[in-house]
Amino acid sequence: MIMEECFDCRLCQTRIKYVYGEGNINSKIMFIGEAPGADENISGRPFIGQAGKLLRKILKEINFNNFYITNIVKCRPPENRDPHQDEFDACKHYLMHEINTINPQIIIILGGIAAKYLLKINKSVLKMRKEVYDIDYIKTYVTYHPAAALYNPSYLKPIKEDLKRIINERTINII
Ligand code: URA
Repeated sequence: MIMEECFDCRLCQTRIKYVYGEGNINSKIMFIGEAPGADENISGRPFIGQAGKLLRKILKEINFNNFYITNIVKCRPPENRDPHQDEFDACKHYLMHEINTINPQIIIILGGIAAKYLLKINKSVLKMRKEVYDIDYIKTYVTYHPAAALYNPSYLKPIKEDLKRIINERTINII
């Protein structure tokens, strides 16, 4: 999908590069994060900064590398602020296009901000990570954003446990 000409929200005024999702388009698992950060804004690639490196390290540790990864908005909010509702609304069709194209069996939402916008609920990740949701009938889980573990390493263990459980569940139930 071509996004170069997207001027649908104010984030186009400050972005360097838009950041579309990437990964294996045949993957059964799709991660959805919040928004590109500084490194992603420069490179145009999702989750290549510190948080992304940590996530990829965790996934490697649990022997999983077959995924597609994207964000709820495709351009970096200035100073890494949270995306606004109207920015999410303007950008949502790109995400829905990705979901429809990849057609994953499982969606894993990274962090409370993305969960709030996508699931339209305002609960703590602590509560949401114990539940199963759905987006267009696709089983959807929530865990902490890997950036949380950069600031507070005590999040590492629950993130790893969640990913292991969700990905193994898929192996048992789907493959
Ligand atoms: N954090 C996100 O949520 N997405 C990225 O692409 C990078 C960092």
